[in-house]
Amino acid sequence: MWIATKSVTLLLIFCTNVSCNDNPPNIVFIMMDDVGWNDVGYHNSSISTPHMDTIANDGVKLESYYVGHVCTPTRGMFLTGKHMINLRLYNGIIGGHDPKCLPVNEVTVAQKLREYNYATHAIGKWHLGYYKEECLPINRGFDTFFGKYYRSIERIPQSMY
Ligand SMILES: *[C@@H]1O[C@H](CO)[C@@H](O)[C@H](O)[C@H]1NC(C)=O
Repeated sequence: MWIATKSVTLLLIFCTNVSCNDNPPNIVFIMMDDVGWNDVGYHNSSISTPHMDTIANDGVKLESYYVGHVCTPTRGMFLTGKHMINLRLYNGIIGGHDPKCLPVNEVTVAQKLREYNYATHAIGKWHLGYYKEECLPINRGFDTFFGKYYRSIERIPQSMY
């Protein structure tokens, strides 16, 4: 069954190089737009999100993480660790034809983890601008990207929740 849903972005970051010693962990960041505190089963038992609950309970929940008012600044802040004001991403989303993107001089978490021999992959929605090559996820620290550069992903299977 397919249902309309929120936009989801997965950042899959794996240590794949033989020089990755000390068994560093694989890292999966999951960012979901428009999901409220009580919209996941591990906060609200009326909601059934068994896969998300398992991942959350086995991982690290960023429960005190503050987001922007819409997705573009939130994504920018998450990837860089900088406030949306400093990223000049406070005016809302980046439109489809806007000549704007996450500033290319900013270092992303994916670029940083690559320095530690992690392989980095992003799946889902980018929404941080795509008007020039330098803005694309594969030029912002990700080895691969599968998804949309702009706005929502219309449908994902309910079985993935
Ligand atoms: C938990 O989810 C149910 C079903 O969507 C909702 O009606 C309820 O308001 C939620 N609880 C809280 C505390 O938000």
